[in-house]
Amino acid sequence: MRAATIHRYGDASVLEVEDLPTPEPRGRELLVAVRYAGVNPVDWKMREGRNRLVLGPRFPKVLGHDFAGEVIAVGPRAKRFRVGDRVFGMNGLSMGAYATHLVVSERLVAAVPPSLSLAEAAALPMTSLTALQALRDVARLREGQRLLVNGASGGVGIAAVQLGRVFGADVTGVCSARNLDFVRSLGAERVIDYGVTSFTDGPEAYDVIFDCVGNLTFESCRRALAPRGVFVSVVTDGKKLLTASIPNLFRGQRDAQVFVALPSGKRLAWIASLAEGGRYRAVVDRGFSLDEVRAAHEYSESRRARGKILLEMPSL
Ligand SMILES: NC(=O)c1ccc[n+]([C@@H]2O[C@H](COP(=O)([O-])OP(=O)(O)OC[C@H]3O[C@@H](n4cnc5c(N)ncnc54)[C@H](OP(=O)(O)O)[C@@H]3O)[C@@H](O)[C@H]2O)c1
Repeated sequence: MRAATIHRYGDASVLEVEDLPTPEPRGRELLVAVRYAGVNPVDWKMREGRNRLVLGPRFPKVLGHDFAGEVIAVGPRAKRFRVGDRVFGMNGLSMGAYATHLVVSERLVAAVPPSLSLAEAAALPMTSLTALQALRDVARLREGQRLLVNGASGGVGIAAVQLGRVFGADVTGVCSARNLDFVRSLGAERVIDYGVTSFTDGPEAYDVIFDCVGNLTFESCRRALAPRGVFVSVVTDGKKLLTASIPNLFRGQRDAQVFVALPSGKRLAWIASLAEGGRYRAVVDRGFSLDEVRAAHEYSESRRARGKILLEMPSL
């Protein structure tokens, strides 16, 4: 198979494209011929070695979590999918999506609905699972609540604005001037240009503030949180987990800073049903070929993407 690999941690120049042995599915695994892989900021954070303790010392590593493609072989105990099925999913720490072939547990994938292209499907997993977990499980967002999404034009923000509407929340999106109309088109009732207005100084109070950028803290948002409001951020910080949990017991607002998005085929099937029903859309910003993987990472690192960056695999 062809794969984008790293043999050491570093900047985008450590990415190579090379041939590796094609893996075989065991147990309940599927072998997927990947057509598109999603590029997420976590991929270049992994490439830089920020999670080296978790990833272990073995190289080469094939990066990439999000994928969409076609099942071409199934393990002896796989029950849910057959050869020829179009599937999409998010792999866990084993990664491996930047490749023409990927072995993945069938529990982590869902069927691509007929109305979605494989490119659109590959744009969904990481961002939608992250927003779903943050809003539904961590913040427990309810109908009629006021939700503020900081970074509403990025991958996770786009997902959060749309899911906020699905849950019946009143959504405000924070983005730059060039993205105001775009964020409105996703369903945000109100948009705030962060270049002009700082929402933390404004009169509005929000039940949930979801920071999809990582430049806010519970303390900086405290005045903008309603009584019993929740602050949740995508930026993981183990120290915060320890320092926030005890004060949370004593104050009216909750600092629910820490969470890590978990893969789930079942949840992706629900997202797929929303997309099929026209209530959720995939937004693709730019596509790159597998050979252009370094440029794709550099573009993601610019933090200016409006929607998903995709890698297209070469034809088999
Ligand atoms: N905890 C987890 O499990 C988890 C899961 C997924 C992602 N994440 C993290 O979540 C973060 C966001 O991921 P992503 O995929 O959404 O990233 P992304 O798509 O690369 O985000 C780019 C967007 O960020 C916006 N942005 C940049 N600076 C901003 C600012 N100061 N205020 C408001 N918006 C700003 C940009 O809009 P403008 O051009 O308009 O500024 C751009 O649209 C990353 O740090 C990622 O690692 C964490």
